[in-house]
Amino acid sequence: MTDLDVRTEVELDQVQLSDFPDDFAWGAATAAYQIEGAHHADGRTDSIWDTYSHTPGRIDGGDTGDVAVDHYHRWREDVALMAKLGIANYRFSVSWPRVQPGGRGPANQRGLDFYRRLVDELLSHGITPWLTLYHWDLPQELEDAGGWPERDTALRFAEYAGLVVDALGDRVGSWSTLNEPWCSAFLGYAGGLHAPGRVEPGASIAATHHLLLAHGLATQTLRAADGDREIGITLNLYPVSAQTESTGDLEAARRIDGLHNRLFLDPLFSGGYPADVQSDLAGVSDFGFVRDGDHAVIAEPLDFLGVNYYTRHVVGQGPYPGTQLASFVGRDLPQTAMGWEVDSGGLTEVLQMAARHTSLPIYVTENGAAYDDVVGPDGQVDDQERIGYIRSHIEACADALQAGVPLRGYFVWSLLDNFEWARGYAKRFGIVYVDFESQQRIPKASALWYADLLRQHGGGILSPVSE
Ligand code: FCB
Repeated sequence: MTDLDVRTEVELDQVQLSDFPDDFAWGAATAAYQIEGAHHADGRTDSIWDTYSHTPGRIDGGDTGDVAVDHYHRWREDVALMAKLGIANYRFSVSWPRVQPGGRGPANQRGLDFYRRLVDELLSHGITPWLTLYHWDLPQELEDAGGWPERDTALRFAEYAGLVVDALGDRVGSWSTLNEPWCSAFLGYAGGLHAPGRVEPGASIAATHHLLLAHGLATQTLRAADGDREIGITLNLYPVSAQTESTGDLEAARRIDGLHNRLFLDPLFSGGYPADVQSDLAGVSDFGFVRDGDHAVIAEPLDFLGVNYYTRHVVGQGPYPGTQLASFVGRDLPQTAMGWEVDSGGLTEVLQMAARHTSLPIYVTENGAAYDDVVGPDGQVDDQERIGYIRSHIEACADALQAGVPLRGYFVWSLLDNFEWARGYAKRFGIVYVDFESQQRIPKASALWYADLLRQHGGGILSPVSE
């Protein structure tokens, strides 16, 4: 680990820290498959991402998560680094096939022990663990049985949630069921761009329902277990703007907002699917998979909503007016290495939109940017663009607070450079650089900037990083 004796030159004065309540939760996020590696260690079996990443042509560079950033073996070092940076909250996910190989049957104690040790280490450093049960790594055997389009997968998920809460319920207070079910359903089952790589639009709508049902059933399981805990879900919400005020463009914006946002927000917080979206999807799905009582399960009361935000969608009616095709319109804005436009105002808007759907406390559970980082001759990574991105989005959080949004925390994506799904290791989102050959960790300038911000706000847990 690099000594943290480099102080960033960046001024914090554009961030009005006084806008943030004293107990605002500042944190960093990761996900199991993206960092752990050790893909067959201690009884772990394959997830759909192991299968997908080993399928030729699916991942840039042919990369896989077999080793990733070896967090499974370097967790102690990674927690120490977080502590040194003063990161008081850590959002991570549990790998389902690590703790319940094959997705059925008893828990794998060796897998659970990894998370017990990790959580205990976090707690011993004063870092609050934020556990996510599902960040996309469905056990392959459950996909072989049909995957998320099958109702049984939701029942299996609730059982898995029970195994995890039995093991960790006494030491983890914050629980999220799913990360970004839109991605699981649409990128995984309609777009073919994420695991399991299926291109079956009807199946993606069934997957949406069973993911939401899984969330509701797991919420009931978590609630029923001994002890108190806060339970939530993380959605990737997008502000969707029409390119012009024309009827066709406004109609396209309604449809995309429906599919991305309301198809998830409405069942969670209003007890049913939006009628206009169901009608848009009439040729794709008849929603015949919805059974009596499902809506009540999906709308189980929660304690918080997590929102992941990276960019905005501006849409137009597309090349074939009168059809449901929409076009995504590029604007003349700076882009990250993912090609995503930097639009911090969209974060304020998306938080306001979320707050119109629920009065629950809201957390930004992911926000960050990929840039083409390089290690300089001095051994440091001077990622000023990432600092600019994070700063402008934290300012957007301040604007949301001022507008009355019950925003309670912000987690930067990501703590570490990692396996960025279909883009492999080519896209670096970390505030800590990882040399994927040596596994050396180098805090980037953005990590030092963020540490300064946490310390100045008082939300950080430690004294200055230079000590
Ligand atoms: C989100 C994912 C996260 C990461 C970021 C860049 O959609 O939840 O794992 O890949 O995008």
